[in-house]
Amino acid sequence: MSIVLIGGEKGGTGKTTLATNLAAILALDGKDVLLLDTDRQGTSSFWSAVREEAEVEPRIASVQKFGKGLPGQVQDLATRYDEVIIDAGGRDSMELRYALGVCDAAYIPVQPFQFDIWTIRQMDELVSMAKGFNSDLRAHIVLNRVSTNPAVREDQETREFFNQEGFENLSILKPILHERIAYRKSARDGLSVAEWKADKKATREMNELFEEIYRG
Ligand SMILES: Nc1ncnc2c1ncn2[C@@H]1O[C@H](COP(=O)(O)OP(=O)(O)OP(=O)(O)O)[C@@H](O)[C@H]1O
Ligand SMILES: [Mg+2]
Repeated sequence: MSIVLIGGEKGGTGKTTLATNLAAILALDGKDVLLLDTDRQGTSSFWSAVREEAEVEPRIASVQKFGKGLPGQVQDLATRYDEVIIDAGGRDSMELRYALGVCDAAYIPVQPFQFDIWTIRQMDELVSMAKGFNSDLRAHIVLNRVSTNPAVREDQETREFFNQEGFENLSILKPILHERIAYRKSARDGLSVAEWKADKKATREMNELFEEIYRG
């Protein structure tokens, strides 16, 4: 059992894309997974509702939780599911801070072309604070929407830049996700890229990321 947080203070980086795809891979693997949406926009819950409406199997349970009671609720929910994935975002979000305090690992999607040193530093500090009471917390950056054009070299350049800056509590995961239409199209139907099936490269890279997160 694990509580995995997909979070970050910056908007639109791919948190919900990651959370929903990882939840689907777990469910396809036979795990009883809970998608916990602490984002008031409710995008993960919406994805789950679309999936439910379309009667896609396996079903994926999703709940929305906000506010002070969150840490206790997460710990209680974690006893009832094989796996919990939290989709938490937003600047200065109380939910993101609480979730960092109770999760086993946090993954922060970042887009190379939007690499924002201030937000990453902020996340590094939030993780540092959370480690004060969640000492085993691990936190990683996942590069998302990387250009598929190898000449752009976004992946390598972002890693070099990141290393120069030197963050104490964050590292960049080796597997990355590229900019692919499959992520948008599959989500519209309440599906993961694996279930949408039309883009093998998207499925493969998401599976590699999954392996790193759950079996790495
Ligand atoms: N690798 C990708 N390739 C193409 N489109 C992507 C990719 N990742 C995410 N997107 C698209 O970018 C948009 C934002 O992604 P998503 O909703 O996952 O971000 P988020 O961090 O959850 O945003 P918010 O902060 O609003 O909750 C969505 O339309 C999504 O389909
Ligand atoms: Mg979201």
